[in-house]
Amino acid sequence: MKLRNLKRRAFIKWCAAAGVALGAAPGLLRAGRGAPLSKPIPATGERLPVIGMGTSRTFDVGDDSDARAALLPVLQAFFDKGGAVIDSSPMYGSAEAVVGDLLQRIHNAGDLFAATKVWTYGRQAGVEQMLRSQRRMGVKRFDLMQIHNLRDWQVHLETLQEWKRQGRVRYIGITTSHGRAHQELENILDSEPFDFVQLSYNIADREAERSLLPLAAERGIAVLVNRPFQRGDLFRAVKGKPLPEWAAQFDCASWAQFFLKFVVSHPAVTCTIPATSKLHHMQDNMGAGFGPLPDAALRERMSAWYASV
Ligand SMILES: NC(=O)c1ccc[n+]([C@@H]2O[C@H](COP(=O)([O-])OP(=O)(O)OC[C@H]3O[C@@H](n4cnc5c(N)ncnc54)[C@H](OP(=O)(O)O)[C@@H]3O)[C@@H](O)[C@H]2O)c1
Repeated sequence: MKLRNLKRRAFIKWCAAAGVALGAAPGLLRAGRGAPLSKPIPATGERLPVIGMGTSRTFDVGDDSDARAALLPVLQAFFDKGGAVIDSSPMYGSAEAVVGDLLQRIHNAGDLFAATKVWTYGRQAGVEQMLRSQRRMGVKRFDLMQIHNLRDWQVHLETLQEWKRQGRVRYIGITTSHGRAHQELENILDSEPFDFVQLSYNIADREAERSLLPLAAERGIAVLVNRPFQRGDLFRAVKGKPLPEWAAQFDCASWAQFFLKFVVSHPAVTCTIPATSKLHHMQDNMGAGFGPLPDAALRERMSAWYASV
């Protein structure tokens, strides 16, 4: 049997075990009424709400107190709507520190699932950077520590495995974006014990569907999706264009929800992390974490609609 078929069979088996619909008609994937949609981390079964948030650029506002104050309601809205996963990186300037500062003023951040990255060369530099990130974001330990863009991954993986054994981090991940280093990432995921992978995937860039997403499913690796809006390009592409009427079938009221529901309805995707600096955009984005998700047939219809407008 071809490797592709083997992967496909394992993928279907995994979907069944993970309790996610693979998308056979006529089903729409539904969550309990009123509850945010969530999916399990394959390694443990712990569930994460499917809509998280990124912090690149949007939370890199430095010491500007007005800019920080303007971000507080954005972060508050995230938690009010059941958000948990926040993704940052030492690469994002002051973002970790800004999140850490604002978290102290949020009254319901108890579900926080804190994720950041290690982005440097060398064991000692990596350890120092991760400790600094803990101080900046104000967390005793990160739920998820990811190796940013594969940088010095063998060295950091060794440290992180040790940290995980010692309970200093809960999950280990590795990231890429914009289709970079997919082949190398595939080789790594095939042979190393990662809990999470983070990659770019959206309605205009479906490259990850070819083999990274099936591989993640096969290996039981949770998937965080970055750039769900292609850094905002998707909105520019549909400016002034109508949503299809049938988007109402899966409680989709905006283009943002259309794009996010497309991403998180892929069975291998665990959570996506859109970034915004605006309250009304955060409220819009969090809306995608409720109601039904499109099945495989509807996903293809969404893709065709996007391509046609
Ligand atoms: N290699 C890596 O590890 C890697 C690489 C890239 C990204 N990431 C992570 O993934 C996160 C997301 O990716 P990204 O920030 O590059 O891009 P993105 O989330 O695809 O797009 C962000 C852009 O979309 C706009 N936006 C957000 N919500 C909107 C809405 N409802 N309506 C209209 N516009 C909206 C934002 O502008 P406004 O502020 O005006 O809302 C912003 O310009 C990052 O923040 C980062 O945490 C990781």
